Amino acid sequence: MAGKIPQQFIDELLARVDIVDLIDASVPLKKTGRNHSACCPFHDEKTPSFTVSQDKQFYHCFGCHAHGTAISFLMEYERLGFLDAVRDLAAHVGMEVPQGSHSTSSAQNDSKPLYELMQQVANFYRQQLKEHPKGSQAVDYLKARNLSNETAVEFGVGYAPSGWDTLQKHFGSDSTQPLATTGMLIRKDNGSHYDRFRERIMFPIHDSRGRVIGFGGRVLGDDTPKYLNSPETPLFHKGKALYGLFEARQANRNISRLLIVEGYMDVVMLAQHDIRYAVATLGTATTVEHLALMFRTTSEVVFCFDGDRAGREAANRALENTLPAMQAGRQARFLFLPDGEDPDSLVQKEGKESFEVRIDTAVPLSTYLYEHLAKQVDMSSIDGQARLVELARPHLKKLPSGVFKHMMVTRLAKITRMEERSLSRLLGNNEPVTANSAPPRHQRPRGNKQGKQPSLVRQAITLLLNTPALGQLEAEPQRFASLNTPGITLLIELLEMLRTSPHLTTGAVLERWREREEGRYLAKLVQQENLVDKEYQQQEFRDLLQQLYRQHCSQRIEILCNKPTSEHSDAEKRELQQLFKEKSGI
Ligand code: UTP
Ligand code: MN
Repeated sequence: MAGKIPQQFIDELLARVDIVDLIDASVPLKKTGRNHSACCPFHDEKTPSFTVSQDKQFYHCFGCHAHGTAISFLMEYERLGFLDAVRDLAAHVGMEVPQGSHSTSSAQNDSKPLYELMQQVANFYRQQLKEHPKGSQAVDYLKARNLSNETAVEFGVGYAPSGWDTLQKHFGSDSTQPLATTGMLIRKDNGSHYDRFRERIMFPIHDSRGRVIGFGGRVLGDDTPKYLNSPETPLFHKGKALYGLFEARQANRNISRLLIVEGYMDVVMLAQHDIRYAVATLGTATTVEHLALMFRTTSEVVFCFDGDRAGREAANRALENTLPAMQAGRQARFLFLPDGEDPDSLVQKEGKESFEVRIDTAVPLSTYLYEHLAKQVDMSSIDGQARLVELARPHLKKLPSGVFKHMMVTRLAKITRMEERSLSRLLGNNEPVTANSAPPRHQRPRGNKQGKQPSLVRQAITLLLNTPALGQLEAEPQRFASLNTPGITLLIELLEMLRTSPHLTTGAVLERWREREEGRYLAKLVQQENLVDKEYQQQEFRDLLQQLYRQHCSQRIEILCNKPTSEHSDAEKRELQQLFKEKSGI
């Protein structure tokens, strides 16, 4: 599959993408020495063992051994196929995947018809809104809620008629299985299926690329449940989906902020009033994945909540998940609406300008956090102030270190009238400057588990992978071609490749081995910490190649000398002379 996309394109793509930025948007990273680290997103852990190297453009977890390139990260984290991951990355940096690139990966083949089917279902529901005899009731309902035809079209609003087999009748029995897989049909114990959505207004939910992944359906009257959502399916993951994000991206070239609201109708009605940057989580609290998605789109998020107790509780849950994402340059604010109002009702009542004033004056996360905590203590007493520090501690701990965290501590110091340094110490915040940065070493890679020194070839490959530019030092890789030792062909191949493309990163080199058996072996070598200091690497690498060449010379001499001299050809005689000369000269 990788072969279908030109290698050059992948190289170029990986040269433009920065894996640190990419991963940081989903898994906030902390700089530790030369690398960046975080708690691993691929297994459960409390202390970070996931590291991302900017130099190498490669990530690796010391805990679960997950590792790979920017492309692998998207494949693993976003569960994308190879081609989709490449497309996503390309879109990210404004490159276009060459036409005619197909993926033959099974995941790709499996889900593509499902996306197409979901789009057809959305089209069908839209058509039913206009054409079904009872569609007019739905239209009347939408009119009563002041939804314009234009907005309904923009959001693809449709109508699921009553009846238990509407979709099966329309799409035929071939589609029964895929319709069940996408959650549109429910399977009964006897093996037959019926429509999940009946007599509901249908809101299609898109992923960020505009593919229909699920639906929300609202009853026309007061039945329960008021809203029915698609279940978790291979396409739809509620904790990762944001209703309206695709539409917001379509409407804005750059989204300077996102407003997070609770409901479908809120998003739609705000858009109708030209506030085209609202998104909704789908009946769930804002997850860490939601936040990653939002901060990939914009640097500022404003959470909008009802003024009631449920709203406050939702705000606190959002707060908890937002703290770890708060890096420098990102902003989060909280907006509480008057009791009994939601964005839909309020924007209709007061219009765009007034509503945007509310957004503009929403409370910053820092203010919200301290005000919320201060309410729980008596701030007029020293005890109360000390208690505030204790209450703040677990929250501050969640913040990634950096300017924002620093400001939060400064602010707390002001509030509690404590000296900032002692507060910092009290919070256990004084991050060791040398965390994870081992003292410099100049030594050969240490031996393996049995205490044996790794082979020369292995050492050379390890160095080369870690610092591909070293490849430029070898002008004639073929001089090792007849050396009989394991791994030599791989080393020669790497050397040949890097001689012509010396600027490839480690990640880009590994990407070329994605489909090959040795790729796994290479990845393992990258995961070893770089044991030789940068300044000594060139020398080290030259030494290793020189030793290999000496081995080559010895091997050839031995082979040639094992032959009676009388049988030596002229060429062999010359070679032997040359070999002795070189060997003594080395
Ligand atoms: P609300 O109950 O606040 O409804 O649910 P709403 O958005 O104001 O809806 P309208 O204005 O009466 O049409 C907020 C969100 O919670 C989810 C939906 O995503 C809804 O938009 N929800 C609500 C459900 O998933 N199921 C429900 O039964 C109710
Ligand atoms: Mn509402």
